[in-house]
Amino acid sequence: MYEKLGRTAKHIQEIRKVTPKVGLILGSGLGAFTERIEDPTIIPYADIPNFYDCTVEGHTGRLILGKVKGVETAVLQGRIHAYEGHPMEDLVFPTRVLATLGIETLILTNAAGGINKAFKPGDLVLIEDHINLMAKNPLIGPNINELGPRFPDMTHAYNPEVREILEQSGKENGLDLHKGVYAGVLGPTYETPAEVKMLGICGADMVGMSTVPESIAANHLGIKVAGISCITNMAAGIQGKKLSHDDIKEQAVRVMNDFSNLLETTIEKIGGMK
Ligand code: HPA
Repeated sequence: MYEKLGRTAKHIQEIRKVTPKVGLILGSGLGAFTERIEDPTIIPYADIPNFYDCTVEGHTGRLILGKVKGVETAVLQGRIHAYEGHPMEDLVFPTRVLATLGIETLILTNAAGGINKAFKPGDLVLIEDHINLMAKNPLIGPNINELGPRFPDMTHAYNPEVREILEQSGKENGLDLHKGVYAGVLGPTYETPAEVKMLGICGADMVGMSTVPESIAANHLGIKVAGISCITNMAAGIQGKKLSHDDIKEQAVRVMNDFSNLLETTIEKIGGMK
């Protein structure tokens, strides 16, 4: 595994020799941010050794190396999910490759269902913490000591300094950024209303089927993690409306401009961090 990471990173560096400072993973329907990348080198996942291509609608599998407001950034457009049957180790492989390339901060983004009744579809939420309900963890198995410790601390799984930058960037862009706890579930079914009620009682503000594995793997690696959820729908039972993947993709498109502005300002500020 560790050797595989090195080989994949070397392959990417032969295409473009850079050390990105920031990594960014774009969730369902949020791929249009890639239009903001300056001087991009686009590498389809299919051309990267040991990468799985994406199969879910709304996910294009491409690694894009370039600059965002002058800051070297590596963007993963599209991710694979546990509900597709992939082992956790494969899910977090791209995150670990970004770490091998040298990123210091990873921004995770996703589409999520709103549980907190103060949210509405189209809202952007700064992830403060997560609850792993996937009944899986990408670090199960022998620990890879070269990557990180056996028992990583998760007290600041979402780095307070980067959260502060995100909040500030939201204000500068005139956005009403919410904050909340993300519950990561396995899927692929959306939740039942009873499950959503339980998640709310347990302290979750939104729910989705991604992000948690990458956050765990990045924390293991000692990388600063930040997360943004795009509330594409209210979770099942909150509005009594049925959920569809098409509606969810449509809503993601609607917030694209705010979302892209927020990311751009955030990455620019991270570029100025020590
Ligand atoms: N539940 C789980 N995942 C999701 C949802 C949801 O309501 N919306 C977008 N991703």
